[in-house]
Amino acid sequence: MLKPTNYLTKVYGLPNGWTLPVYEREVQGYQVAKRVLTSMSKDDLVAEAKKANIRGRGGAGFPMGVKWSFMKPHATKPAYLVINADEGEPGTHKDRTIMELNPHSVIEGCIIGCFGIGAHVAYIYVRDELHLSKERLWGAIKEAKAKGYLGKNPFGTNYPVEVYVHTGAGAYICGEETSLLNSLEGRRGEPRLKPPFPAQVGAFGCPTTVNNLETIAIVPTAIGMGGEAFSKLSAIHNLNDGGVRLYGINGHVNKPGVIELAVGPTIRELIEDVGGGVLGGKALLAVIPGGSSTPVLRADDLVDAPDEKSPLHPWHGKSVLDVPLGVDTMRGVGTMLGTCCVTVMAEGTCMVAAMHNLMQFYRHESCGQCTPCREGSGWLLRSVEKILEGRGSMEDIDNLADVANNIMGNTICAFGEGTAMPALGFLKKFRPEFEAYVRGEKTKDRDARLAV
Ligand SMILES: Cc1cc2nc3c(=O)[nH]c(=O)nc-3n(C[C@H](O)[C@H](O)[C@H](O)COP(=O)(O)O)c2cc1C
Repeated sequence: MLKPTNYLTKVYGLPNGWTLPVYEREVQGYQVAKRVLTSMSKDDLVAEAKKANIRGRGGAGFPMGVKWSFMKPHATKPAYLVINADEGEPGTHKDRTIMELNPHSVIEGCIIGCFGIGAHVAYIYVRDELHLSKERLWGAIKEAKAKGYLGKNPFGTNYPVEVYVHTGAGAYICGEETSLLNSLEGRRGEPRLKPPFPAQVGAFGCPTTVNNLETIAIVPTAIGMGGEAFSKLSAIHNLNDGGVRLYGINGHVNKPGVIELAVGPTIRELIEDVGGGVLGGKALLAVIPGGSSTPVLRADDLVDAPDEKSPLHPWHGKSVLDVPLGVDTMRGVGTMLGTCCVTVMAEGTCMVAAMHNLMQFYRHESCGQCTPCREGSGWLLRSVEKILEGRGSMEDIDNLADVANNIMGNTICAFGEGTAMPALGFLKKFRPEFEAYVRGEKTKDRDARLAV
């Protein structure tokens, strides 16, 4: 049985749990920021952050401490910390809980993060429709300022820190860090070519670190207990991913939600212990492990790792559902860890309709800057729609794979892969369903169900 931890979640659900008095009472709030600003050097802080081995929680899993260490002081330009709270990935719903229920962890994380990268200003980029999130973050900023934790002289030091909440208009592409920076500057939300990376040329042309909201919110905990101790919280599975994370479970389960756990639960544990089992007692058909861009896994997929040197070898021949969720383990089974929010699909879910649903999203959200993505996402949608509506041919199924493969690696940002990889995943894992539509054995009216 999974045992939840409660570093970020201790104040969740407490009366006024999002306010400063509760944050200070329950988790000695702002004591870590105070210690950092009054007694640590920037280099020591970054070293501690590296030891904590926090892999970025935004999807790509880049080590946070290493990212901080890329920030070098510039002779004339200020540095910025930008917090990515866009959370537009379908099936992902964890950052929002932090903003609504523990916003002070974000503000304290911003103070520490600014110090670590040599910045004095942090922007938290939140999508417009998250009204409560914005309200709670602004409320936390106001409270922290009134206590002298933020502003010109936080904790009586000469290290000014300001935090602002910036509203995004709710475009998925603005979660991609360079589009986010363009949007923050008031420009069109289109990705920038890299290099230069944000650490060299980021917000307003200045050195910038972009961290996911959960990544920054866990910083006070990690630095507070010491990097090594934090990293070891997850040591049981040796996943090269330290500490604790928020995990989400959604879709066809009895109890969808978000829980904090030591890094490394399995998908089966999340479904059974956290989600209370598959909805309606049905059999499990498939899972999308970490947001809609991560390729689907079949419930009957087995791990294929005969090589004893493979980190996945201990699970060779076992179900993918019993592999601990980690950046490398999920890559090893042909998908990605992504955002650690698992979407569950029960027996009876139509995978052609599921792919159609996702392709509608990606077609709509492509910013249109790169031809392979702009045109390819349209082709993917139209082809899967043809198949779903009984107008498709076997050639259309091959075309889907062809188009997806031609998007991969040919776009400025990873939106292209985020569209193509799930498409290829559905085709690889559920091709017989697509063929059944072509042969007329399945029809949209009768078989295209997404819900139990
Ligand atoms: C299309 C697209 C959408 C993304 N959306 C988000 C998002 O909503 N939130 C997020 O933190 N990262 C998102 N990312 C990843 C960011 O570009 C970036 O890697 C992340 O914010 C870095 O933070 P981290 O290192 O703490 O994970 C997205 C990436 C792509 C390509």
